[in-house]
Amino acid sequence: MRTLHEIAPLRETLDDARRRGQRIALVPTMGNLHEGHLALIAEARRRGDLVVATIFVNPLQFGPGEDLDAYPRTLAEDQAKLEAAGCDLLFAPETTTLYPRGLEAQTRVSVPEVSEGLCGGDRPGHFDGVATVVTMLLQLVQPDVACFGEKDYQQLAVIRRLVADLHLPVEIAGVPIVRAEDGLALSSRNGYLDATQRAVAPILYATLCALRTALEDGAAPHDTLSDGLARLETAGFAPDYLELRAADLGPVEATTREAVLLAAARLGPTRLIDNLSLTLP
Ligand code: PAJ
Repeated sequence: MRTLHEIAPLRETLDDARRRGQRIALVPTMGNLHEGHLALIAEARRRGDLVVATIFVNPLQFGPGEDLDAYPRTLAEDQAKLEAAGCDLLFAPETTTLYPRGLEAQTRVSVPEVSEGLCGGDRPGHFDGVATVVTMLLQLVQPDVACFGEKDYQQLAVIRRLVADLHLPVEIAGVPIVRAEDGLALSSRNGYLDATQRAVAPILYATLCALRTALEDGAAPHDTLSDGLARLETAGFAPDYLELRAADLGPVEATTREAVLLAAARLGPTRLIDNLSLTLP
């Protein structure tokens, strides 16, 4: 696997691959890779001839007081994992390479509606930062397909919308959430949890599972969600939100069948997110 840090050699390598008729599959990440990221690489491997990963801790999507500086940077370990997973090319640029004029001067991509509420409500500007860097990476790599995890459900919806709205010629593939044995969705931020918090963390998923069962059995959403919030608080979480939305993140209406439960909750300073799809009766 080759690692490139600059744009010019990246373009050259990709032009070359395209000339040879190779199908390019992209997996954007912020590094500190775990089995969730590697599932995206495996999906990219199935869908493309040349698998390109990116590692870039994107300052534009971190708010003031968030964990930009503390975010784990583990390039050497990540390179070994990518290589073993069958990645062909890693692009790991410096911040000044992607944003040479600085963050304030940066042209931004903003996706209305799907960016609002949920994580967008708790993290103002977050999805503009994600949309901007993903647009840039899609433009730099020009992949045939790009893979994203369903763990970041709203992020995936934002990316699908920006690709549709900007008529970008790329297929977006969603990949199911990879979980630890106890149900906790794998996340680079799980490393922030101490042993006590790590023992509590799976209750987030367990709560979503219990709510799904109740809702699929016809329980009233409002009361069910209130019970869920209480359950999370009792376990020691500080919930940011617990919501039931239609699968496209629109409001649940009488005719809605395909729906999704979405939650974000803090354990100490660590913010965990999770979601679970369900079919309403
Ligand atoms: P990051 O958090 O590193 O995640 C990179 C990709 O891995 C995302 O598509 C995310 O949804 C997916 N992923 C993370 N944990 C997963 C899990 N347990 N199961 C399945 N997929 C999982 O998301 C970002 O980086 C950034 O916002 C990015 C899209 C790279 C833009 O900066």
